[in-house]
Amino acid sequence: MAKTRTGAALLSLSLDRDGADTLQAQLLAQLRRLILDRMISPGSKLPSSRTLAEELSVSRVTVSAVIDQLISEGYLEGRARSGVYVEAELPDQLPEAQSGTAASMEQGRSGTFPEEASPAVPATLRPFDASAPELTLFPYRQWARHHDQTWRRPDAALLSRVDSFGWPPLREAIADHLREWRGLPCTAEQIFITSGVVEAISLIAAATLNEGDEVLTEEPGYAVLNRAVHQNRLIPVPSPVDQQGFDIKTALQTAPRAKAAIVTPSRHYPLGVTLPLSRRLELIEWAVGCNAYVIEDDFDSEYRFQGKPLPAMMSLSNQDRVIYVGSFSKVIFSAMRLGFVVFPKSMLPKVRSALSQTDQQASLMLQPVLARFMQSGDFAIHIRRMRRLYAKRQAAVLKAIKLHAADLLIVDPVPAGMHLVAMSTPDLQNRMSDTEAAERAKSAGVIVQPLSSFFAGPPVNQGLVMGFAGFSEERLEKGVQDLAAALRV
Ligand SMILES: Cc1ncc(COP(=O)(O)O)c(C=O)c1O
Repeated sequence: MAKTRTGAALLSLSLDRDGADTLQAQLLAQLRRLILDRMISPGSKLPSSRTLAEELSVSRVTVSAVIDQLISEGYLEGRARSGVYVEAELPDQLPEAQSGTAASMEQGRSGTFPEEASPAVPATLRPFDASAPELTLFPYRQWARHHDQTWRRPDAALLSRVDSFGWPPLREAIADHLREWRGLPCTAEQIFITSGVVEAISLIAAATLNEGDEVLTEEPGYAVLNRAVHQNRLIPVPSPVDQQGFDIKTALQTAPRAKAAIVTPSRHYPLGVTLPLSRRLELIEWAVGCNAYVIEDDFDSEYRFQGKPLPAMMSLSNQDRVIYVGSFSKVIFSAMRLGFVVFPKSMLPKVRSALSQTDQQASLMLQPVLARFMQSGDFAIHIRRMRRLYAKRQAAVLKAIKLHAADLLIVDPVPAGMHLVAMSTPDLQNRMSDTEAAERAKSAGVIVQPLSSFFAGPPVNQGLVMGFAGFSEERLEKGVQDLAAALRV
């Protein structure tokens, strides 16, 4: 088996017969990882289930169940009379049936969670609410199983004093996730679990900044960040974002002594621009030269539809000047109130001492559940599945705008995220502001956010921020028709 690259990779499979997970679950997780890491090349043939079973000293039933599962997830392909092959393209779409997931395979054994109907979507949720993910396809059953397994007989460590940085297995799971998805080589000890971005900014401020320090923020940007900076007795300095994103040189013309910059380099919020490498390097160079910090808000990075994402900025700097802030609000949902910060190792003592003044706010109830959700693979499955779905929904909304509202709105495809910005055409701008457009839309039952509301100062451009993730293609098209009718009146 070891003569080929595939054979060599398969030799690395190692099953722990005394482990907490079943042999089937271990084999599933390891094979999936080998495929994802391309240790088994796309398109290559797997040995027969009989050979694999013999090599691994497990039953053929176990191997066949795992292979069936990976076929249903789109990692493997069974070809009649030929054998089983690794898919040429890694799966972005996973089966709609919840019964097809890894978790439910284990669940099938215990049988404790009956299939349930999808939850009702809140009636108040209307296109194009940008904060809405697809709520009906969240793997609630798997989540409930992880919750039950965690809290039915809680681990003693959970009931004693937990590290103030957060539940260690969750920090491990996040470190693994960041290595795989964001090319960020960090360790669990660098990760602090937050209740969201506001707590992240407070802790960073307490650990690294002094009252009255200027902090560069993006203009347009997420207003909450300016407020959070202000609440920590720092001075936010909104600085223009151009076609390429945030420009440190322009920003320093207004605030040459700034001590930090909060940026969204992987996908600017809300414009969606990816900050090019040259600008990233300039930012880091500034931070290193001025003892300042880049706070990398990587809020909107997971759902990338095209191309490979640039790795996180933090991975570019070995000078300990980039602090990474992440959130589960989009990938799971905002009500979860869990996020995290990755601190450079050299900052950890300062952070621990700042924590003694501020205290961690994230509830411990959900942290172990999320850790299991991530470690089991359910989280990655969910992201891939939603990514494919959201790509289709974006295509649907673009098509609908071109068909029904081309005289009103100008849109381009976005390579990532859950929303797009439709710019007002000159004709629409002459007739009304984006704020008025949003008000009219609201009376027609459609939610859009005026781009101008993302500016702290006078808005530079006019447009509508439109979320597409949480709505079916039909609802999106109908929403565009209603919007267009409201804007034409
Ligand atoms: C730019 C940006 N960063 C971060 C967040 C996430 O914040 P939180 O983790 O507090 O939900 C958001 C939410 O909309 C955002 O727009």
